Amino acid sequence: MDWGMESRMARIIRPRSRRGVMLAVDHGYFMGPTRSLERPSETIGPLVDHCDSLMLTRGVLRTSVPASSAVPVVLRVSGGSSIVGADLSDEAITTGMAEAVRLNASAVAMSIFVGAAHEHQTLVSLGRLVDEAEAAGMPVLAVTAVGKELEKRDARYLSLACRIAAEFGAHMVKTYHCEGFERVVESCPVPIIVAGGPKVPEREALELVRSSVDAGAAGVDMGRNIWQSDRPVAMIRAVRSIVHDDASVDEAVASLGAPA
Ligand code: 5RP
Repeated sequence: MDWGMESRMARIIRPRSRRGVMLAVDHGYFMGPTRSLERPSETIGPLVDHCDSLMLTRGVLRTSVPASSAVPVVLRVSGGSSIVGADLSDEAITTGMAEAVRLNASAVAMSIFVGAAHEHQTLVSLGRLVDEAEAAGMPVLAVTAVGKELEKRDARYLSLACRIAAEFGAHMVKTYHCEGFERVVESCPVPIIVAGGPKVPEREALELVRSSVDAGAAGVDMGRNIWQSDRPVAMIRAVRSIVHDDASVDEAVASLGAPA
């Protein structure tokens, strides 16, 4: 790995614990103004000092994160469909590599839709993005998206999707936690980061974090379970305590304190 690539990777997966906490705030690129993310700067502001990196689009980066912030950025560079459109898998690259470099991104992220109508298009886009990223020393995070077909999230499917992402050259893969998640991690030769998913009770979200890292995940990319919580700062700190300090679920829940 060359110096630029390695240095960028180290901003996302921290060398001390070999894990990272990514705060996902990219939902608007296909979901519009998601609950609690209606005014992104107000959501991001209190949380930005507690994450290792921030996953977002260039639009939210420019408008809602001060350039003086030192937070490493994972720039979402794919899109082109929405929750009200015909096919969520119909994505392409929407932000170029020169722009990612200009915005001082530490990584770029795109979705692949294995088994969906636009599987081929998204996989070929991943290959092309990796070619451009390698030339720029820019890590690529491939997101194994399933659109509305949530039932696809089992170990067999996710192992397939993660492995394909790694074979195409992704430097990190973001996927879902599932029953038998160790199998997904074992068969993927690059670090796996776990997506949070829709809001669930805090203990359940913290259990997901604990069992993800126990299975070998390199961290989490969590959004709604942090900023839709009544106490988002306490919640992200609790997530950090598991990811970086190996806290138990009970310890992390206790650290939340009384409900807001
Ligand atoms: C959407 C994404 C989101 O960043 C990802 O789902 C994480 O956010 P959440 O924890 O709210 O699910 O990549 O495609």
